Amino acid sequence: MLTLHSPLDMHVHLRQGDMLRLVAPHTARSFAAAVVMPNLAPPVTGAAQVLEYRQAILEAAGHPFEPLMTLFFREYSRAELEEAKPHIVGVKLYPAGMTTGSEAGLADMERAAPTLAHMEALDIPLLIHGEGCGFVMDREAAFLPVVERWSRDFPKLRIVLEHVTTAAGIALLERCGNLFATVTLHHLLITLDDVIGGLMRPHLFCKPVAKRPEDRAALREAALSHPRAFFGSDTAPHPVTAKEAPGCAAGIFSAPVALPALAALFEELGALDRLQAFVSDRACAAYRLAPPAREVTLRRRAWTVPERIGTVVPYLAGQTLNWMVD
Ligand code: NCD
Ligand code: ZN
Repeated sequence: MLTLHSPLDMHVHLRQGDMLRLVAPHTARSFAAAVVMPNLAPPVTGAAQVLEYRQAILEAAGHPFEPLMTLFFREYSRAELEEAKPHIVGVKLYPAGMTTGSEAGLADMERAAPTLAHMEALDIPLLIHGEGCGFVMDREAAFLPVVERWSRDFPKLRIVLEHVTTAAGIALLERCGNLFATVTLHHLLITLDDVIGGLMRPHLFCKPVAKRPEDRAALREAALSHPRAFFGSDTAPHPVTAKEAPGCAAGIFSAPVALPALAALFEELGALDRLQAFVSDRACAAYRLAPPAREVTLRRRAWTVPERIGTVVPYLAGQTLNWMVD
């Protein structure tokens, strides 16, 4: 048995409507709170929308659960950010067109500076989908110089490099004291070989794409030990019709398996005692959070991950896991 104190998922896509009602209980069952991404259609760009979305999540959650809300990055005035600040934990920046729901993202990074200056002054963290242009395997590396420059230009701004996938991204944490990173479950488990090295696996396709074995090794090391790396699943459900399609949507629905699979991995790495830090303590420190007190217990009990949850194929479908959320 393993008891986690207020486990947190610092990067989730809960969607809207029927999909929200299907997936939110899976996050809320395992996590005391989660950072909710704003890439809806249309994106969440104002305080009123944040409050309306938060209410819909609470109605769908079905468990005691705190949604930690975010705004979608655009050019904001100081007044707009002041109005939103009591209701959000950060502003999420998507480079335009880089991933699902990022069409309204930022096309020119040079235009970010005035908004970043307001965020620094108001102490609102910046969350980044860190991919630039170029060859798909090199997109994260291509964006890191922008992150490093912002970290230097806005030294009091807390910046979170979301779903870090490369050893270079982890190395940047050493050069930037105000930089943090979320690490997903799937990037700790798979490399690009699992996605396209044999038969193509659409349910393992996500952005940023899984990288090389040496990148995965650096992510594992950071998950175990780095004080500024913490868990964000990037659980991103799409209907099976959008995944098993000629143009497969990017995103892996990992919420139902997140804690059991993390427990199995940390156990395999001989580090079960470090799971609490990865799934809660370091995120609380980074975001200065006092999450709702909630204990989540994992038991050693084998279960098989269902092939479908509603319209969605979950990560690790059909596989047997040896830990189960109580
Ligand atoms: C996410 C989604 O589907 O919203 N997809 C993904 O592959 N991770 C968006 C994102 O976080 O990039
Ligand atoms: Zn995401």
